[in-house]
Amino acid sequence: MNARPDAAIVLQDLHKAFGRQKVMDGLNLEVPRGKITVIIGRSGEGKSCLLKTMIGLMAPDRGKVLVEGMDMFELSGRDQNELRKRFGMLFQNAALFDSMNVFDNVAFPLREHTDLGEDEIRDKVLDKLAKVGLKDVEHKMPSELSGGMRKRVGLARALMLDPEIILYDEPTTGLDPILTDSIDNLILETQKIFGLTTVVVSHDIPSTLKMADKIAMLHQGRILEEGPPQAFRASKDPWIQSFLQGKADKDFIG
Ligand SMILES: Nc1ncnc2c1ncn2[C@@H]1O[C@H](COP(=O)(O)OP(=O)(O)OP(=O)(O)O)[C@@H](O)[C@H]1O
Ligand SMILES: [Mg+2]
Repeated sequence: MNARPDAAIVLQDLHKAFGRQKVMDGLNLEVPRGKITVIIGRSGEGKSCLLKTMIGLMAPDRGKVLVEGMDMFELSGRDQNELRKRFGMLFQNAALFDSMNVFDNVAFPLREHTDLGEDEIRDKVLDKLAKVGLKDVEHKMPSELSGGMRKRVGLARALMLDPEIILYDEPTTGLDPILTDSIDNLILETQKIFGLTTVVVSHDIPSTLKMADKIAMLHQGRILEEGPPQAFRASKDPWIQSFLQGKADKDFIG
């Protein structure tokens, strides 16, 4: 199979099972460079596994993950780490370091990967926190934050190194409508300004239809359908129609 040259990430014939449970079963997907791809599907279908596989944190049993033409799981550990630095990721549970305050969590990638001085780090951290709508929280510990605030701290941290590719695992689940809208706009803006290759896992139908250049629906270990939002609206597939009709709570969140 020849991948399109405008694909930043190419997944080829991925297989993955946990015991007898298959989460990927011959999965193929191309993620276009500089565009927003939204992955949808029911709870437990393997969306989070798919993101972790793209960024090299979860090895498939079989198949290839090509990132800008490089075979993620054929690289040496060091090269794999280098490649991973080109990604930012917001994990589904935000994955903050519980023993560090908000400031240190968001500053972590800068301290780890750059030689910036503390003043510059401070400016950047406060700027990113402001962008995600957080003020005066930098001294709080993660346990003192609401779920939505943790998510926004995770988002600020994911954006810290200005990555080329960014993966968001349910960035707005659990947020109120106003915050959802502002996070959606932030995702759209960062994608536009920096031309980021963006992958979002979402249960939110209006957000998905608003922001996606491409939607890919994961079902039974494969991409059941992919295309622009208009093609999804026109699809006759019952799974897709039930997703679009907002049966998300019952059928999709599980
Ligand atoms: N490390 C693991 N070990 C065993 N099973 C796992 C592991 N990670 C995921 N799974 C299983 O793989 C399946 C897919 O999980 P995943 O978290 O990718 O689903 P999801 O589509 O992200 O669901 P949700 O919408 O609820 O977040 C689930 O049944 C899960 O229990
Ligand atoms: Mg998930």
